[in-house]
Amino acid sequence: MKRRNFLLSSLALVAPRSSSAATARIEVMPDEAIGAISPDIYGHFTEHLGGCIYDGVWVGEKSKIPNYGGVRKALVDNLKRLKPPVIRWPGGCFADSYNWRDGVGPRERRPRHTNFWANNEYLQKAPNGPQKYDPNEFGTNEFARFCKLAGAEPYLAGNVRSLTAHDFYEWIEYCNSPRGSTSLADLRAQGGSPEPLNVKYWGVGNESWGCGGSFTGDEYAIEFRRWAEWVPEFGGHLSFIASGPNVADYAWTRSFFEKLAERGGPRALRRVFGTALHYYCRTTGKGVANEFTVEEWYELLSNANRMEELIRNHWQIMGETDKDHHVKLVVDEWGAWHHTDPSIDPSYLWAYFPTLRDALVSGITLDIFNRHADKVAMANAAQLVNNIHTSFVAVGDKFTVTPVFHVFEMYAPHQGATSIRTSFSAASVGLASAHTLTGLTGSCSLQGRKAFLTVVNADAKNAQDTTIDVRNARVTSARARVLTAGDLHARNTFEQPDALKPINDKVTAGSPMTYSFRPASVTCLELELG
Ligand code: AHR
Repeated sequence: MKRRNFLLSSLALVAPRSSSAATARIEVMPDEAIGAISPDIYGHFTEHLGGCIYDGVWVGEKSKIPNYGGVRKALVDNLKRLKPPVIRWPGGCFADSYNWRDGVGPRERRPRHTNFWANNEYLQKAPNGPQKYDPNEFGTNEFARFCKLAGAEPYLAGNVRSLTAHDFYEWIEYCNSPRGSTSLADLRAQGGSPEPLNVKYWGVGNESWGCGGSFTGDEYAIEFRRWAEWVPEFGGHLSFIASGPNVADYAWTRSFFEKLAERGGPRALRRVFGTALHYYCRTTGKGVANEFTVEEWYELLSNANRMEELIRNHWQIMGETDKDHHVKLVVDEWGAWHHTDPSIDPSYLWAYFPTLRDALVSGITLDIFNRHADKVAMANAAQLVNNIHTSFVAVGDKFTVTPVFHVFEMYAPHQGATSIRTSFSAASVGLASAHTLTGLTGSCSLQGRKAFLTVVNADAKNAQDTTIDVRNARVTSARARVLTAGDLHARNTFEQPDALKPINDKVTAGSPMTYSFRPASVTCLELELG
């Protein structure tokens, strides 16, 4: 099909551009760098929760489902398109009940254990299986292999609630000690990895304020100090991630930092690479992914937008103790959280097909991270497959990418680029005052003379006719890609895996230039600057 015809046929599927009365404005300031966007901001998270590991990631070597040594092939092949920098595992809450020793050594001799989530009301309705009783077939070596196949760094979360600092130390030794140097290196070799796994990122627990041990901020600081005080580094630098607070519990963050610095001062802070922040957005109504009103559309998007306030406030409090901001934020769980889709087996807890609304949550959130590239060192969408804000749904031999996947792919050029200050002025959108947000939100990054501008138009009905001005530069060429649909509930399913995908749009370069952002859309504009 010729390019023009392709464009027209794909555009016919999306909403007509009925414009808003007001003209919006975006001003890009290439001379005002915020900082380099860590590729790790585009990270993922996998937990032994519902169908995420079994059978999202792991189908087993003997499965009829195409696999790379037990790891689902379709997942790896598609994940690679996102250029995944880092993947977190094994939890989540599961991490603080997990003994890494159960997942190493000969697979057939590994013990079966009750999964942390087995008591969940919904999962209780499900038949017994690996989601309730973990067979430990997928352990450290398998996870490291999965990361290698996908081209991502592994990020392991230790068990602070129910194991010891010594177990943590030995897990590091298992992963990173040189070939043949220790008994644990030999055990690792028996699992197929004689060479060190070189795991750099280590989480010291997960949600230690709650499922990870119910610690207060200062109690946890004492644990953190002890766990990270002396561990073998084997010539590589380890980056420790401290558990963070429950969403906006700023007092927890303050007490953690103050207690940590009480002994050792700045030196103690140097031990922390990042402090974790978890934030999920939800709606107060039915909470069903694909059944929502326009009001709930705005409710979810304005709740997603709250991430910005959380980053700013925690950052400010961290700076009260960590004056030169050595410690960064690691948002290692984020996403839109809805109920399990009743058409999917109840074992697949919190599995559903995300919609266009969730795609906008992704755009809004990733843009916030880009705009705060000086503060956010890593982020991990929760979770990669079959769970919550998922990029993939995979049940048996059925597989689809979701709209969340498409946003990650569209935004990949931001990875490693320099985030630059950009202002967005547009009228607020939303029906109830509690659920409003600026019509246009976004971020812009620069690589050489190429500016990459990503924009979310949250307006459910109206396009935003926008003037885009790049300060002190001319836009010599421009390309646009858009993810949108005429139906706010649009999503991909096993039957229609391509129902929602990005299309190329017409755009004319100019200084300033104009572009009409479609209603309910995520857009990326690639601008060559002269
Ligand atoms: O991602 C699901 C759960 O949400 C994680 O296990 C936990 O850390 C968080 O509360």
